Amino acid sequence: MSKMKSVVVALTVVSSMMISASVVAADGAALYKSKTCWSCHGKDAKTPLMPFYPSLAGQNADYMFNQMKDIKSGARNNGQTAAMKGVMGLVNEEEMRVLADWLAEQQ
Ligand code: HEC
Repeated sequence: MSKMKSVVVALTVVSSMMISASVVAADGAALYKSKTCWSCHGKDAKTPLMPFYPSLAGQNADYMFNQMKDIKSGARNNGQTAAMKGVMGLVNEEEMRVLADWLAEQQ
């Protein structure tokens, strides 16, 4: 009986992990569209509008999260940052995290 119980617990844990992973995937894709990211970085996140805009698909998640925070705060302010900065007003840190995680998973 107790063995049965732990199997049930294990299955519940696995299925709730699967649900939260798919929520992040759906949110990331939706945010990427609704916050207009695709218009500069490309629908697939690797065909940017301008050749000198960065490709984001598969980039490191923590790195991207930090770059977004720095662009938003002004800590990062180099050549093309101004193009990106206006958009950062549309996303909060939680959304940046979801976007960074989703982008890192894109191929
Ligand atoms: C108006 C065009 C534009 C839009 C819209 C835009 N970006 Fe950017 N983004 C840029 C440019 C240009 C850069 C490079 C800035 C630089 O040269 O410093 C950049 C840089 C980045 C970086 C850092 C990449 C790196 O390799 O350092 C990330 C991450 C990023 N954008 C994510 C996003 C996300 C997520 C969105 C939507 C919320 C978004 N961008 C919307 C133009 C845009």
